[in-house]
This record gives sequence, C-alpha cells and structure tokens, in this order.
Amino acid sequence: MHKDCEKILFTEKQLKKRVREVAESVDATVQGKRPLVVGILKGSIIFYADFIRHLTAPVELDFMVVSSYGSGTVSSGKLKIKKDLDRDVNGRDVIIVEDIIDSGFTLANLKQLISERGASSVTIVTLLNKACRREYDIRPDYNCFDIGDEFVIGYGLDYDERYRSLPYIGILKKSVYSE
Ligand code: IMP
Ligand code: MG
Repeated sequence: MHKDCEKILFTEKQLKKRVREVAESVDATVQGKRPLVVGILKGSIIFYADFIRHLTAPVELDFMVVSSYGSGTVSSGKLKIKKDLDRDVNGRDVIIVEDIIDSGFTLANLKQLISERGASSVTIVTLLNKACRREYDIRPDYNCFDIGDEFVIGYGLDYDERYRSLPYIGILKKSVYSE
C-alpha cells in the first residue's frame, strides 16, 4: 500500500468484478443501439477503459475535460469546459462515464448541457457515489460503489494530479492535504 494511503477501500479484484457487473447491465440496455460513450477526463480514464471492454454493442468513444476543482479537495463551484466533445450528440444515446459524484455539480451541469444539445437519452454511469455530499439534484443511473465522506485516490482518481495510477482505491491520509 502507498505510504499516503490510510486504508484500501476497494482492491483490484473487487473493482474488476464490480465494473464487469455494471458494464454488463448497461450493455443489456443498449442492444441494437450505437451509443456514444463520453468519458470525463482525467479521473474516469481507467474505469472507462475497463468498462467499455465489457460492452458488446457497437460504441463510439468521446471525451470531455471539465474542471470544478483547483488543486484542493473542495469544489470551487464553477464548471469549466477545457475540452469539448468531438461528436455531435443530437439524436444520440449518450452514456456519461464519471469517476465519482460528490456534490453533483459537475454531472448536473453536464447532463443538462448534453440534453440541451439534443441527445435522445443521457445515462450516467459512475464508479463511486458520495451520496452524503450531494448538493445538486442528480442521481447516477448506474453506480459501482457507494462511499462515505472521505477523500479517495487511485484507479484514476487523484489528489493534485498524484496517485492516479494506483491499481486500487484507497482513502488519502488527511495529513497529506492538511499539512
Ligand atoms: P462534484 O462536481 O462535486 O460532484 O465533483 C466531482 C469531481 O470532483 C469528480 O469528477 C472528481 O474529479 C472530484 N472528486 C470528488 N471527490 C473526490 C475524491 O474523493 N477523490 C478524488 N477526486 C474527487
Ligand atoms: Mg473528475
């Protein structure tokens, strides 16, 4: 375990099993369709790569880079689109793949934006859900794991751009960000 990690929440094995289960459920709902799978970079990158490999429907891949955070652990309350989609979502079945829903600010804004652009459907798939922190009215259609009010790292998730490559999800030691 990494020295800045207080505790491992989900092991590589648990992640693999649960991501497969969720992906298979989503896949069953998109048979006969050609969904556009939108990954929210960078946090979702590892989840996204594992998730799409269990889809049998013909998918198209696209990505957005947005930020509501600076380098800290608290949302700054303003969504910035740093990289927009390449594809037109009008008339498409869109699956948004996100790493974690915290306040819900990012996804509430994104879901509205993609709906306004004329998507036929918008499905939200998240790896982690911190429901206890919700401030905006948004719920994932699919969620791999519920977690409490802890700051987590690994499997794509970062603190100040660190720890994304850890193969497991762990709780970051408070001493790392309260120093
Ligand atoms: P929201 O807009 O408040 O829902 O925040 C969502 C974004 O905050 C996620 O996409 C993450 O990038 C980031 N975030 C929230 N909680 C955590 C955490 O525990 N670890 C790492 N990133 C987090
Ligand atoms: Mg993110």
